[in-house]
Amino acid sequence: MICRLDDIPDGEGKGLTVQTKAGEREIMIIRKGEQAFSYLNSCPHAWVQLDWSPDRFMNRDKTHIMCATHGAMFDIETGRCIAGPCLGDHLMPFPVTVKDGTVFTALE
Ligand code: FES
Repeated sequence: MICRLDDIPDGEGKGLTVQTKAGEREIMIIRKGEQAFSYLNSCPHAWVQLDWSPDRFMNRDKTHIMCATHGAMFDIETGRCIAGPCLGDHLMPFPVTVKDGTVFTALE
């Protein structure tokens, strides 16, 4: 279990550190309704963390993930950069599932 979906306000994100076979990874989980989308917390432009401050990953309208460093905008569902210096690049997906309101990694 990573967290409860209700721990994340709808349209917001949460940053977490998770243990994988390759070691610790910083990830983000973005909630959209009853769905959760997860990516490594690393911008493909300069490989820095995306959040503005803890758990602040979204643009003002909560329509896209936005990098705090140079403002790249990413599609929530696909992680594809739709505007900014890494246009067309993708966030690295991290596999999660939601079951009964709880977010799990696919590794569990
Ligand atoms: S580091 Fe994210 S847009 Fe430059």
